[in-house]
Amino acid sequence: MKIDELQVFKQSAEKITCLTAYDSSFSQLFDECGVDIILVGDSLGNVIQGGENTLGVTMEDMIYHTQSVAKGIKDALLIADMPYQSYDNAKQTLANAQRLIDAGAQMVKFEGGQEHKDSFKILQTNNIPVCGHLGLQPQSVIEMGGYKVQGKDEVSAKKIIDDALALEAWGVQTLVLECVPAALAKQVSQALSIPTIGIGAGVDCDGQVLVSYDMLGINTQHLPRFVKNFLKDNNDIQGAINAFIMAVKEQSFPGNEHSY
Ligand code: KIV
Repeated sequence: MKIDELQVFKQSAEKITCLTAYDSSFSQLFDECGVDIILVGDSLGNVIQGGENTLGVTMEDMIYHTQSVAKGIKDALLIADMPYQSYDNAKQTLANAQRLIDAGAQMVKFEGGQEHKDSFKILQTNNIPVCGHLGLQPQSVIEMGGYKVQGKDEVSAKKIIDDALALEAWGVQTLVLECVPAALAKQVSQALSIPTIGIGAGVDCDGQVLVSYDMLGINTQHLPRFVKNFLKDNNDIQGAINAFIMAVKEQSFPGNEHSY
């Protein structure tokens, strides 16, 4: 997928598939199976490094894994996460985003809304493509009081909608919505002209992302309700990836049982 195709998918209502990868073997497999977007998530802090959260992930970690993942990709769009405290001000954001682009990412993702206005704007001015991330923000797990569904009341739902509209105005090209009620994710997706990619955000997002280690049943601890193990009913990893792609495209995943 090329960056301009995000708009084509949105307009044609074809659902976008996204999986996380941290190494070239998995990224090559996902790419060959036809996954649209591969995300080098800072979830590597949990699934690769065994951390309790993503707060210990460094820029050096992200660069190393982005370089590895980039080697396996021919067609998929490669997005890399900016880790905790790597985008605290505009100058730092630009320098760190450029390092991820130099490592092979085509787009960078970071968590948060209008409080990061200067960071979004400097990347827009410098033509660095950005994916936003609203709803549950794992890098703010301590402030949020745990891994909880966000946007359940009117005030917090309005903040998510306002943030989403601001991010779109500041040039963000796609937006991850994590752990928000399905009805709110639908409202945000309809309000935006950029595609939303949901995780625990219901079937009406424009695409779906899962942490690959969760959807392959490698990680079995503390699984949230939005996770589905696609390997369980398939014989091999390729079968599981193809089942994920098909389920997202035909909108049988996520079901109500995976949504809030
Ligand atoms: O780090 C990650 O894997 C992510 C996804 C859960 C969206 O941000």
